[in-house]
Amino acid sequence: MSPSLSRRRFVQGLLGTLTASRLDGLAAPATAAEPFRFAFLTDLHLLKGGALRSVQGIAMCLQAVEGLNPRPDFILVGGDLVNDARDMTIADASQGWDLFLKTWHNNTSLPAYWTFGNHDLCATGIADSPKLDPRYGKGLFKQRLGISNLFYSFDHRGWHFVIMDDIDLLPDKTYEGLLFDDELAFLRADLQANAAKPTLLCTHIPLYSMLPFSIALAKATGFHVKTPKNLVCTNANTLIHDFPGHNIRAVLAGHLHHYELNTIGGVPFYNSGAVCGNYWKGPMGDCPEGFAVVDVAADGSVKFDYRTYGWKA
Ligand SMILES: [Fe+2]
Repeated sequence: MSPSLSRRRFVQGLLGTLTASRLDGLAAPATAAEPFRFAFLTDLHLLKGGALRSVQGIAMCLQAVEGLNPRPDFILVGGDLVNDARDMTIADASQGWDLFLKTWHNNTSLPAYWTFGNHDLCATGIADSPKLDPRYGKGLFKQRLGISNLFYSFDHRGWHFVIMDDIDLLPDKTYEGLLFDDELAFLRADLQANAAKPTLLCTHIPLYSMLPFSIALAKATGFHVKTPKNLVCTNANTLIHDFPGHNIRAVLAGHLHHYELNTIGGVPFYNSGAVCGNYWKGPMGDCPEGFAVVDVAADGSVKFDYRTYGWKA
C-alpha cells in the first residue's frame, strides 16, 4: 500500500471512526482518574562517545525535569535514546548503552517507561552482524532496559497508557513505520478492556503528521507530496478502524524532531520536538531542543506543554 493511499484511508478513518468512538468513550462510566504530571522526552540521541556534549545535554534536560514543580510522577520516553546503533557492532552499541544508562541514572531517580525508536536498532546496518545474537536488532534495547515486550500498557492514577512499537526493519536494512499484527490484536483487546479509563497512546514514528505538507517542504513539489514510509506510520488506518469503544485522550509521538499538534475527531495528536534538536547541532529548523510537560486532569483532559531547557549547542 502506498503511503499516500494509507494516509487517505487513515484520515477517512479518523474523521469517521474516531468521532463516533470518542463519544462512546465519553459516555463510559465515570472513573477514578486523578490529575497528575509526567514528562515526555523523546529523541535523545546520545552520540557515540558523548560527542557534541550530548551527555551534558541529556543531563541538563533531566535536571530540568527533576526541577519541575510539581515534580512529574514519571518520565515517558519516546524512543531514539542512542544514535545510529544500527551502524555499530554489538560491542560498540553496548558501550553506548552503558553511557546512556549511566547518564540517565546519574541525573534522575524518576520511574521511566520506554518506547523503541529506529535509532535503537542494534547492528542491523552492518555486514556480517551475528543475527542470532539475542542483542541484535531490538534485543539490546530490551535487555538493557529490562523490557520483555516492546508493546505494553500500564495504569497510573486511573489513567491508562499504551506504548507501541512501530519500527519495521526491512530486508534492505532500512525501516518503515508499521504497526505489527500481534500488537494490533493486543491493542484492540487492551483498549476495549480499559475503555472506562482515559487513555494515552504513544509511538515513536507518528501515526499522523502534516510535516510533509509544510510550506517549506511542499513548496518544491507544488504540494503534490508523497509521505515517505519511514516518516509516518504506514498502516495507522488499520489501528483506527479497529478502535471501537476506545477512550483515547491523546496520542504522543517523536521521530520528526518537530513539535506539531493535529486535532482529529476531538483527539489531539502531539508529535514532540527532540531533546537533541538537530542531533546536538542546534535547533531543528524552528523547533528548539526540548521536552514536554504533560498535565492530565480528572476530567480526562490533557495539557501538553513543549518547552526548552536552555541548551545552547
Ligand atoms: Fe530521532
